[in-house]
Amino acid sequence: MHNQEAFSVSTAAAIIVAAGSGSRLGGQVPKQFLTIGGKTVLQWSIDAMLRCNKIASVVVVAPADAAPQTAATLRPDPRLQVVAGSPVSRTESVRKGLSALAGDPPAAVLIHDAARPGLDVAVIDELLEALTSADAACPALPVADALKKSGDDIRSVDREGLVHVQTPQAFRWDTIIRAYETAAASAVDDLALLEGTGAKIVLTPGRAALMKVTYPEDLAVAEKLIAAPALRVGTGFDVHGFEPGDAVILCGVRIPHTKKLEGHSDADAAWHALTDAILGALALGDIGDHFPPSDPQWKGAASIKFLQHAVKLAADRGFRVANADITILAERPKISPHREAMRRATAEAMGVALDAVSVKATTTEKLGFVGREEGIAAQASVLLSR
Ligand code: CTP
Ligand code: MG
Repeated sequence: MHNQEAFSVSTAAAIIVAAGSGSRLGGQVPKQFLTIGGKTVLQWSIDAMLRCNKIASVVVVAPADAAPQTAATLRPDPRLQVVAGSPVSRTESVRKGLSALAGDPPAAVLIHDAARPGLDVAVIDELLEALTSADAACPALPVADALKKSGDDIRSVDREGLVHVQTPQAFRWDTIIRAYETAAASAVDDLALLEGTGAKIVLTPGRAALMKVTYPEDLAVAEKLIAAPALRVGTGFDVHGFEPGDAVILCGVRIPHTKKLEGHSDADAAWHALTDAILGALALGDIGDHFPPSDPQWKGAASIKFLQHAVKLAADRGFRVANADITILAERPKISPHREAMRRATAEAMGVALDAVSVKATTTEKLGFVGREEGIAAQASVLLSR
């Protein structure tokens, strides 16, 4: 029965079922372990779930006899656990996932097919939002093709009101637990267990990219939809003022000077600009959003932490730094003697080749705050490629 009390999902758990054998696709390895766009079909869904900050834990349900082997192929994360599934049916595999969460039950759970790698955080947000006024929610798409009932007497079927449903399917915890108490082992999906119970079910917008990889030809389509080559460009800019000191740090390199740069971290304006350029290319806000100056853990932090965090955010989305170009605006100290060291340190910090990193410097002809030697500015451009 639908619970009318206000319900807000601040945290939820996710179950990703990956215990199937992929018989319709065939091949040596079950489809969820095939690689598309540089990572496994399964890892795509895990990464999407982990990217959503409302998802507090992710349970991967692995093939019954291969839980440790499956865990070894996944990028470790404190929110991730792997349990053994069931060879009997998807429903029985989901049941194993629910059991893994029962000790510390979440408010809500998303149940997702590993075979749908095109999961987007927006889909998760829409489902959790829908749960504030429903017991269950599911992404669905209208049926586009004309429908026929096959057999000896082929007949048209009215497609009015018919939808394709996808996963994740989202449930309030109590709702799905009650449904599973009496579930037959072979439900068509999890939502089917609620039909006819009076539970309120809301449909959210489905996505073409959320397609299930079922047959061999689906792999190429999924790859096109979710892992097509992509380029992203970003720019960053940063300024730090001088204070008394004996050296500045730029691109991780200590450059002796008669002043130092002032800032809550090591004030490496060049790496701050570069970090912002990467975040910009990913459309993930700016350095202040990720490392608030008010947070003591970033006080005096080496800027390499910021830069490497941005590179990791890119890698999580399948992107690597194709090249970066940094310009330092400074009257003094003279940058050129340190340029090669700065390029090397930057390339090493980002894990890219030296020829992917350029460092340039200019004065501003004694004009403006840089010209008056009140501080140093840096700008950076970066290209990310997938
Ligand atoms: N699944 C599962 N446990 C099972 C059967 C299926 O965890 N006993 C999972 C699959 O790994 C998949 C999802 O349920 O992520 C959707 O099922 P389906 O597309 O049917 O996958 P398979 O059963 O592996 O494929 P097939 O039916 O072609 O054998
Ligand atoms: Mg199956």
